[in-house]
Amino acid sequence: MSEKKRYFIENIWYAAAWEYEVAETENKLARTICETPLVFYKGKTDNYIALDDRCCHRAAPLSIGRVEGNCIRCMYHGMLYNENGQVVEIPGQVRVSKSLKVRSYPVVAKGGMIWIWMGDPELANENDIYDFPPLSDKVNWRGFDKGAYLHYDANWLLIVDNLADFSHVAFVHANTLGGSEAYAYSTQAENIQKGEDGFSMERWDRDSASPPFHAKVIPNEELGNTVDRANIIQMRLPGVFLMETLFTPVGWKEKDGRENVREYRNCQFMTPETRNTTHFFWNYLHNWEIDNSAISASLKESLLEGFMEDKVFIEGQQKLLERSPDFVPRSIAADEAFAHFRNKWGRRLRAEDEANPLAHKENKRTIL
Ligand code: FES
Ligand SMILES: [Fe+2]
Repeated sequence: MSEKKRYFIENIWYAAAWEYEVAETENKLARTICETPLVFYKGKTDNYIALDDRCCHRAAPLSIGRVEGNCIRCMYHGMLYNENGQVVEIPGQVRVSKSLKVRSYPVVAKGGMIWIWMGDPELANENDIYDFPPLSDKVNWRGFDKGAYLHYDANWLLIVDNLADFSHVAFVHANTLGGSEAYAYSTQAENIQKGEDGFSMERWDRDSASPPFHAKVIPNEELGNTVDRANIIQMRLPGVFLMETLFTPVGWKEKDGRENVREYRNCQFMTPETRNTTHFFWNYLHNWEIDNSAISASLKESLLEGFMEDKVFIEGQQKLLERSPDFVPRSIAADEAFAHFRNKWGRRLRAEDEANPLAHKENKRTIL
């Protein structure tokens, strides 16, 4: 008998794919989210549709099927599904039972990202998606032409933990995003605001040298100056990270205005593929010399270098945790933010589980 345990909040929006990913693969994309294989495709009015990627006939993947307007045809025996997942045609058969269908999911495109709602469609409200305005603001912000994607062999909450404690920047990223180990000693999370859907906080590093990723893209005459560096972070359920980074003259205050401030915006969306693997989407935007594509290219290279440094640690944790189910973590003060996040995530999960317990049903008609 298979184990039935709920691992994922369902009544929430997940980042599913950059729009270009669907466009680049003949307007259909196979992607597993929350251990559910899905097919995403583009309909006739550039609308996005998401269905279970498993034909209800003999379980062929619909993602190797053919998009026909708002429908997708299973290319095994030709059954045609509409955007609601209903079979509307069976070649050579007159009557089509209404019970022939697969599940369809609410999807919305915002800021170049396709978001999916894995739970009760009646509860889906697209205003609940954490919109990140710089992603859509081509006048003031320049990011990568194509949002970036990484695949992690790790549970997404390990990536949330990583982003919730920037003291790691000092050690993991000493030569890339951080700059020195001093960052861990001389800076602290400040102004931690805890809410039902996550937390926000700031970290200021005052009067210090520009870290390598920033030093590579600023004019030479600024290189000798020390700066105040601020990372202002929001982390929202299920795994949405939005960050404002400022490099300001030393002693700067908001009332001084932002003319002499160099600013970045960063989004990172962590979406569980399975309980042990994660889709990781990100972009990094700046707001000066936005026509100079070399800046964006350098930032992408630096950030990717930094993320690969994180990945070594995070995937290393995952491997060790899988091998040591009895491991009990010990806490330190810096865990406050992610402990809160995990607490809120756990409560939402339990509430959904109590409202709608997963029942194990024996399948007497398995075809394997
Ligand atoms: S498996 Fe899809 S039509 Fe038969
Ligand atoms: Fe990191």
